[in-house]
Amino acid sequence: MSNRYAVILAAGQGTRMKSKLYKVLHPVCGKPMVQHVVDQITNLNIKEIVTIIGHGAEMVQAQLGDRSLYALQKEQLGTAHAVMQAQDMLEGKEGITIVVCGDTPLIKAETMEAIFKHHEELKAKATILTAKIDNPTGYGRIIRNEEGLVEKIVEHKDASEKERKINEINTGTYCFDNRALFEALKNVSNENVQGEYYLPDVIEILKKQGEVVTAYQTDEFEETLGVNDRVALAEAERIMRSRINESHMRNGVTIIDPANTYIEADVQIGQDTVIYPGTMIKGQSIIGTECIIGPNSEIDVCEIGNETVIRQSAAFNSSIGSNVNIGPFAHIRPDSTILDDVKIGNFVEIKKAVFGKGSKASHLSYIGDAEVGSDVNIGCGSITVNYDGKNKFLTKIEDGVFIGCNSNLVAPVTIKKGSYVAAGSTITKNVPEEALAIARAKQVNKEGYVEKLNLKK
Ligand code: UD1
Ligand code: MG
Repeated sequence: MSNRYAVILAAGQGTRMKSKLYKVLHPVCGKPMVQHVVDQITNLNIKEIVTIIGHGAEMVQAQLGDRSLYALQKEQLGTAHAVMQAQDMLEGKEGITIVVCGDTPLIKAETMEAIFKHHEELKAKATILTAKIDNPTGYGRIIRNEEGLVEKIVEHKDASEKERKINEINTGTYCFDNRALFEALKNVSNENVQGEYYLPDVIEILKKQGEVVTAYQTDEFEETLGVNDRVALAEAERIMRSRINESHMRNGVTIIDPANTYIEADVQIGQDTVIYPGTMIKGQSIIGTECIIGPNSEIDVCEIGNETVIRQSAAFNSSIGSNVNIGPFAHIRPDSTILDDVKIGNFVEIKKAVFGKGSKASHLSYIGDAEVGSDVNIGCGSITVNYDGKNKFLTKIEDGVFIGCNSNLVAPVTIKKGSYVAAGSTITKNVPEEALAIARAKQVNKEGYVEKLNLKK
């Protein structure tokens, strides 16, 4: 196999996106477009990946890290000029270079592998990945001669009426003989409607030199979508979403309504888990087997065990064990650790708290900055008073504690092992092991008081 190199074009601003965020960093199913491209390319045995950066260079570099080398394109003078910036790194090397646009997030490794193969088999100097699509507006068109061989690519803006009728498009992915590419780039001019140096012009240049130039037409036209505006972004999102959902379903996850289920690209889900509609699962979330998630739940960067149920709830940056029951309408805020067999019921908010095995907060609670042991029962309406307006303090509730309803635990405070807190208490001092703490005014009954007030007519 020849040496393989890759150039990813990611320097453009993306004017048509009308956004502060640089185009290639716009996420599709939670992952920046250019990251999708790099993740696919990584499967291809490439010796060196060079990403061309310009607009938002530091941000793109921070996103991709050391998975790529970088070449800076100070001024964005066109896609040919962009590839030229990799000259110092690649020129003269023997091998095949694949060029991919950072705004084609749907392209798959298999398709890129196929174009490499095609290129090698035909001993070509350049191979274009093309597709036939219903609406080719905006794309470069593939111009073929009478024998059906590729002659050149004409950009939409430069195309004649007749050329615009051609529906075979340039997907923006190409394989080149590396040396021939950098030679040909020197001859690209910017005499066109946009005044840019077009990479597709390399095709015509090589063709005129009598070199072998071919096209590899893919049927997977959905993969070739180039995202230039928000309409295409939503389209890419839709296609990626159904691709992700389909792969989970094939792995044994039940998704009741795939069109209404939003799972980001890096999520892992175990077999026999059921996802109900209106659910979003985001970031690097890992969900175990036989869980029930949803309807209408949001899970962001959580690790969840097996047989856990989360209904109509939101959970962020937390770890949740097995056989846990959450919701409906619970909110698990970041840095919470919920161990096995826990119940977090309706209208309970948990923040930065550890919940030991088998503990319960079944109704209407706020538990923040807390360490809750195992087999603790937190009665309805009880809360940790963790904030004095300036600082946050820790509440410790040890194993087997019973907190009566509607109690306030004013932190810092420790409720020791096996103790009881009477309902309605405001606890400000530590409670010893096995003790009963009552911290509320004693009840006084005034006999006949109503009669005395003479309020009843
Ligand atoms: C390009 C192709 C077009 C093809 C389409 C496929 C050219 C001239 N046209 O058009 O034939 O059908 O992709 O989606 O190549 N970029 C840079 N530096 C620059 C200019 C662009 O790095 O100076 C990057 C952009 O960030 C983007 C990619 O190159 O990721 C493509 O640029 P874009 O402006 O989107 O080209 P299209 O008009 O889509
Ligand atoms: Mg584009």
